[in-house]
Amino acid sequence: MKDAQHILTQIIYLGQEITQVKDVDLLLEKILTLARNFTNADAGSIYVKHNHRLFFKYAQNDSIQKQHGDHGKLIYSTFSLPADNTSIAGYVAHTGRMVNIPNVYALGEDVPFSFDKTYDVVTGYKTRSVLAFPLKTPQEEILGVLQLINAKDGNGNIVAFNTDDEPFIMYFANSAAIALERAQLTREIILRMLRMAEMRDPKETGAHVNRVGAYAAVLYETWASPRGISKEQIEKTKDILRMAAMLHDVGKVAISDLILKKPARLNVDEFEIMKQHTFLGARLFADSHSEFDVAAFYIALEHHERWDGMGYPGTVIWHDPFGVGAVYAKNSGTPKRGEEIHLYGRIVAVADVYDALSSKRCYKDAWNEDQVLRTIREESGRHFDPDMVIAFFKSLDALRGIRKQYPDDSDL
Ligand code: C2E
Ligand code: SIN
Ligand code: SIN
Ligand code: SIN
Ligand code: FE
Ligand code: FE
Repeated sequence: MKDAQHILTQIIYLGQEITQVKDVDLLLEKILTLARNFTNADAGSIYVKHNHRLFFKYAQNDSIQKQHGDHGKLIYSTFSLPADNTSIAGYVAHTGRMVNIPNVYALGEDVPFSFDKTYDVVTGYKTRSVLAFPLKTPQEEILGVLQLINAKDGNGNIVAFNTDDEPFIMYFANSAAIALERAQLTREIILRMLRMAEMRDPKETGAHVNRVGAYAAVLYETWASPRGISKEQIEKTKDILRMAAMLHDVGKVAISDLILKKPARLNVDEFEIMKQHTFLGARLFADSHSEFDVAAFYIALEHHERWDGMGYPGTVIWHDPFGVGAVYAKNSGTPKRGEEIHLYGRIVAVADVYDALSSKRCYKDAWNEDQVLRTIREESGRHFDPDMVIAFFKSLDALRGIRKQYPDDSDL
């Protein structure tokens, strides 16, 4: 038996580790991995609750993974169940109680829930012991359910989950729920930031942000496919990139309307202020390191850098005067060039200019497509990464499709 002091130390450590992760999807994956390691469970799945339903988010299964390689994960991608007694997870979501079942095929007459055999039938996997518990916030709100399957003893035999572990698991579940709630709030705040930027500058941000996000995802896929990057990695990156690229100009909310909406060319001083939208946006993401935040940081910061080193803002000096993550930034010159510019910055540079040139702005008319394409070709190796210009022309049909999907008012 594990010694209680040791378990306590381990569980406190797990709780701390969990609260570091900010991206919702990464967090769910991490919660499941840590809980399975702690209980030595062969498999497990995690569900998120929304409007009285449980949405399946993520499953891990060592046995199936060993048999089928990566396909083990793909058996069922998205489905949902009602939060009621027709399944174990549903019961847990409905009541907020933990259940510990030694053998799901030998449920007593008196248990209120039933075992849903679909997963076993579909996968050929044999579920036996189950420990299912709610992810419940201190306000008693149930955010989801974690289901651990088939505990193993030291020899790899399937055994029941240890009832002595239950209080520790409950403690861990509380930390996980707090971290999950915070990550979901962050996602909510990002979506609100986008809506706010849209209200501030409806002409130039509404459809523009959607298009730039979608263009960036397509350009990345075209760029990455011939480079031996796995399909799963490409899908995951596209998702993050699309959302992060939508935020490329979020720093413009801090720029005065007099400049932002000036119906004429900016003078030199005005343009110097306008350039600050890069690091004013980036600093919102500077104090955290989830994949999403890192992407949003570099995109906001570097989408106006140029391949030839003539862009802005260049290397930025960050200040955190109070040491509390309230980051300020000051332009320091020395623009980045070539591959010093983050890949995502090089992608969004093309996506943003393609969209800006093709659209009417308060300071300019839309260009016709011939002019736009000629400029992008001419700017290969000057403004733009030559590989990205190649990806651009390979993707052109898809890019035109996106423009149709998110038209400007003036296109209608
Ligand atoms: P934006 O309108 O989204 O434009 C993004 C980028 O597309 C510009 O970055 C520039 O690289 C390119 N671009 C857009 N229109 C033209 C054009 O007519 N000719 C050329 N050569 N390139 C064009 P840039 O220049 O760093 O500007 C960043 C942002 O600053 C712009 O975003 C816009 O919000 C603002 N801005 C730039 N110039 C003016 C201006 O003369 N008047 C006003 N009111 N805003 C401006
Ligand atoms: C997200 O989960 O995609 C956004 C939240 C974050 O990672 O900060
Ligand atoms: C990052 O989010 O990875 C960069 C933030 C920083 O440099 O402070
Ligand atoms: C660029 O922003 O460098 C491309 C647009 C142009 O030069 O006309
Ligand atoms: Fe910009
Ligand atoms: Fe833009």
